[in-house]
Amino acid sequence: MVVNFYRPVEVFFGEGSLDRAGEVARRYGFKALIVTGRESAKKSGALNRLIESLNSHGINQYVLYNEVLPNPTDKMVNEGARLAVEEKVDLIIGIGGGSALDTAKAISIVSSNEGSAWDYVKYPEGPRLVPYLNRPVICIPTTAGTGSEVNRYSVITNEIRKEKLVISHSLNYPKVALIDPILTKTMSPRLTAITGFDALTHALESLTNRNENFMAEELSIRAVEIIARWLPVAVEEPENLTARKWMAYASMLAGVAIDHLGVALIHGMEHPVSAHYPEISHGEGLAMLAPYITKFNLEGNPDKYELFAKLMGYEEKPAKAVDALLNLLESIGLTRTLKEAGVKESDLDRMTEDVYMLSRHSFTVNPREPSLENVRDLYQRAYEGKL
Ligand SMILES: [Fe+2]
Repeated sequence: MVVNFYRPVEVFFGEGSLDRAGEVARRYGFKALIVTGRESAKKSGALNRLIESLNSHGINQYVLYNEVLPNPTDKMVNEGARLAVEEKVDLIIGIGGGSALDTAKAISIVSSNEGSAWDYVKYPEGPRLVPYLNRPVICIPTTAGTGSEVNRYSVITNEIRKEKLVISHSLNYPKVALIDPILTKTMSPRLTAITGFDALTHALESLTNRNENFMAEELSIRAVEIIARWLPVAVEEPENLTARKWMAYASMLAGVAIDHLGVALIHGMEHPVSAHYPEISHGEGLAMLAPYITKFNLEGNPDKYELFAKLMGYEEKPAKAVDALLNLLESIGLTRTLKEAGVKESDLDRMTEDVYMLSRHSFTVNPREPSLENVRDLYQRAYEGKL
């Protein structure tokens, strides 16, 4: 039995956690860079609540960087890092979905070390530079899915190279996560579905891949159970706070699980999709690939897929894992094929090549090691919707 654990993130989970922001931020200084998207944190009132909390603890100086878009780019990170340096901020607060949190964490690295964002992403050969400093980061998620608030990952896209890669380093952990499930109530049903499915894929891949960490697997198991029960409810009833609470909790558990166990081929094959088609969100990309890759993977780890099927409320048979995914995706309205989402068939070869060039470390971790032909075939199946 293998159990390795390292949790450097202080977590405050529960209603009203956001209001601790001022008290927590005060530990790290007096001037904050707030990193967020253009609209949602503002519209939902979360941004105002954050600023009120900061003000009430004497943090009256803040700089707003609100240019983060879904599938954030290295340019956004570099721009935010430039601001952090110029404005001499003491700390960084990311508030929003996974994109805002990933960007805030990456800004911390880039603004504290030499080089730019792309120097720190992890190619299979490793990153070009290794950071040795960071700035304190507080993460406040307003979606339930990414888990970024509790782990060391930032996923960044390079628009010129059409590559999506990950910064993964122990200095990329936030210092504090404030997880307030109320903030997720304003998510649309579609965003709820997309982000919730990301969390489920984190739980599924960490549970079934070849890495071992018993304690982290227990978190994946619990996350699958919770998501199976509460994701369809959260999609159906956006105001249902019980569903929102459980989803925020499951997303956190799955975010910790991937920190210890990593992901696998579903993520490895998704990143080229949203790198080439940034209008496709990460969660929907995963949804378009997961059933096909899971069917391919079954024979690599039948016991775990059996367990996954059971946790999803199905008969304990590996093949039922695929049915469970298909039915869940149907119930939350994520049924598009790659073709229906606008992916060109002529890009599937390039995407296959990208999986090899950028994510081949996922091959050996995946429950069943794929060949490049397998990867190409899986893209074709997801393109046509042919299991
Ligand atoms: Fe993910």
